[in-house]
Amino acid sequence: MSVADTGFSVLSEDFAAAPHRSFARLREQDPVHYEPAIDSYFLSRYEDVKRVLTDHEAFTTETLVVRAEPVMRGPVLAQMTGAEHTAKRRIVVRAFTGPALQDQIRAIHANAAELLAPFLARGRFDLVNDFGKPFAIHVTLDVLGLDRRDWQRVAAWHSGVAEFITSLALTPERRRHCMDCAEQLEAYLLPVIEQRRRNPGDDLISKLCTAEFDGIAMSDRDVIALIINVLVASAEPADKTLALLFKHLIDHPEQLAQVRRDPDLLAAAIAETLRYTPPVQLIPRQAEEDSVFAGTTVPAGATVFCMIGAANRDPGAFTAPDTFDIHRPDLGTARSFTAAAQHLSFGTGLHQCVGAAFARAEIETVAAMLLPLLDQVRYSPGFRYQEAGLYTRGPLSLSLDFTPVR
Ligand code: HEM
Repeated sequence: MSVADTGFSVLSEDFAAAPHRSFARLREQDPVHYEPAIDSYFLSRYEDVKRVLTDHEAFTTETLVVRAEPVMRGPVLAQMTGAEHTAKRRIVVRAFTGPALQDQIRAIHANAAELLAPFLARGRFDLVNDFGKPFAIHVTLDVLGLDRRDWQRVAAWHSGVAEFITSLALTPERRRHCMDCAEQLEAYLLPVIEQRRRNPGDDLISKLCTAEFDGIAMSDRDVIALIINVLVASAEPADKTLALLFKHLIDHPEQLAQVRRDPDLLAAAIAETLRYTPPVQLIPRQAEEDSVFAGTTVPAGATVFCMIGAANRDPGAFTAPDTFDIHRPDLGTARSFTAAAQHLSFGTGLHQCVGAAFARAEIETVAAMLLPLLDQVRYSPGFRYQEAGLYTRGPLSLSLDFTPVR
């Protein structure tokens, strides 16, 4: 019996508990899975996902008008096309690459050291909640030029905005909560924008406030949408990747020992973590014309979800795809954080992640700091590993014990 006939659903508790268990069946038996409750198609084969993400005429980001714009308070980068997309994307890219990135690595180091300090002597911390989440928000606030002391408020609003974008079905109450978060975040940002227009600095918000597009400065609405875009896009996948990296290394002690001996292997360990367990599991697009995949027609107007986790484990793209192996010959580490990456964890095509190099620097810097400190690192007694999320996915917590650092 095919998966299509078994009542299988990506909205089921079974799938949510361990999506990777269904990837092979989906790719082989139901590669164009239709989900009637949300009237959407789920593509799981590598070639199909790549086709959707690179054929910008046939598959657009139009879905974001309803999926993201209400909480972003305006159009986000991924919705833009042509010259507008190129110009605005360039402003954001410049803030996260080249000389700017070198300055940020120092700030990343300082942020990590400050957040870690209270836990080192204890010999125990939750890598997700004690460190990863505050760290990823702190670092993003630094780049944007926002006050780090506001991180808890910003993190709370951020999680409401992210919930709106990443939920496949929202109750009216949750929708209201998400909209409240977005409105409060907007109210917090407006006076900052006004101040940066008068008195710009070196930060990304100042650059957005002073940039011109077609000779016209960006409106407050445009600037707010881009700030929220960067905040949400940057913080959530980075903290998940860091926690997943440590989980996989702890679960593969020989590979952990190799990385500890040779930190140059960290880039491969991060790339393999991204391939094996992409923090962004789904990328939505809208079909602009009837398109055929594996003999099934996806009609014009349909919402299509690219299943990045399933595509990254397609045996047509990677050998022994269900094995975590930082030495795999088909990983292509050097390309893994560029537009030529073989894995699809940063997307591909026009809208591929602008923060890939920054994410690598962020995770590599912190992991290089943590690994020598976390002697004999292991899960804390009684710890039970749990992951959550269909759209973005990562550990709920990761409680680790290590030799206390005096
Ligand atoms: C491991 C960390 C990260 C992962 C896995 C990740 C993943 C992704 C993915 C899958 C996309 C493509 C979305 C699409 O095609 O619709 C994307 C786009 C984007 N990412 Fe990342 N991201 C990460 C870190 C970051 C960081 C640190 C930033 C900070 C700038 C960032 C900013 C963006 C932006 C602005 C876009 C939209 C680009 C466009 O539409 O032109 N991301 N990211």
